[in-house]
Amino acid sequence: MFTQSILDYLGCPTCGGAPLSLEASREQAGTIMEGSLRCTATHRFPIHSGVPILIDQSTMIGDEWKLWQEHLNGFQKRRERREREKIQITSKLGRASIQQHHFSTFTGIQAGRLLDVGCGPGKFRYCFDQHRVEYVGLDPIVLPDTDDFPFIAGLAEYLPFKTASFTDVTVLAALDHFKDKPAFFSEVRRVLVPGGRFHLLQSIHEANGLKGTLKYLAHETKDYIESRLGEANPEGVPPHMTEFGGNDLAALLRQFFTLDKEQRYEARLLAPTRMFISMRAA
Ligand SMILES: C[S@@+](CC[C@H](N)C(=O)[O-])C[C@H]1O[C@@H](n2cnc3c(N)ncnc32)[C@H](O)[C@@H]1O
Ligand SMILES: [Zn+2]
Repeated sequence: MFTQSILDYLGCPTCGGAPLSLEASREQAGTIMEGSLRCTATHRFPIHSGVPILIDQSTMIGDEWKLWQEHLNGFQKRRERREREKIQITSKLGRASIQQHHFSTFTGIQAGRLLDVGCGPGKFRYCFDQHRVEYVGLDPIVLPDTDDFPFIAGLAEYLPFKTASFTDVTVLAALDHFKDKPAFFSEVRRVLVPGGRFHLLQSIHEANGLKGTLKYLAHETKDYIESRLGEANPEGVPPHMTEFGGNDLAALLRQFFTLDKEQRYEARLLAPTRMFISMRAA
């Protein structure tokens, strides 16, 4: 759902958030359905079916991006299959998961403008009072059930927003799929207002102790089974691009942020531990 008010904070992903102006567009009941956006340096981006596509293809060159695009194709195919099977009806009705509710409580977000990067279908929005928290979702894959909230097609590494646009940025179970984490963290610092916060939900692996070893083995077995199934079913879940140990992740984040608080969330005994972390720009 792309309305005029979203233009206040959209920015050129190629020019570090330079303002964008709307060119010839077609509106329908207050939603900008088709048209294009242009920055002062003449970068132009399309708007399709109510979604601004703020991805500059020329920034995604090199072998690593090629690998990432193949990885993303896995998500796309899986989602298309789900849509064909009409699973999206249940996903539309489905609300946020219990884990997402725990995480929203942990963040303490109660008001402001929140950017959810790698939002998928954007279910995290159901955790907030929409009159107090303006939820904005960003993901390179456009899903059909993202038409009733501000959704922007874009990349974590080139956030298509003006500087100092958000009070909070969240990433739920998606950091391990981004290609360039340092580039993303720099962008988070740019788009946050002074004093704004960055909150992360991420699976981590702890190979310490008996429980850690059991979890590690369970995870390796699951990955092995999934990769075998993946050979037979190319539309299986794409594997993570990165795996994190809790301490390595915290050390990486400390290079960019001041860590405010941290919590470990155990969904099930043998499922990977989820780490919740809240940070401020260092
Ligand atoms: C496992 S899903 C998590 C979706 C959602 N956050 C949730 O918890 O339901 C990971 C998401 O990351 C997105 N993603 C992958 N690479 C990305 C990138 N470079 N920038 C933004 N999102 C990306 C994928 O399209 C996918 O929707
Ligand atoms: Zn530009």
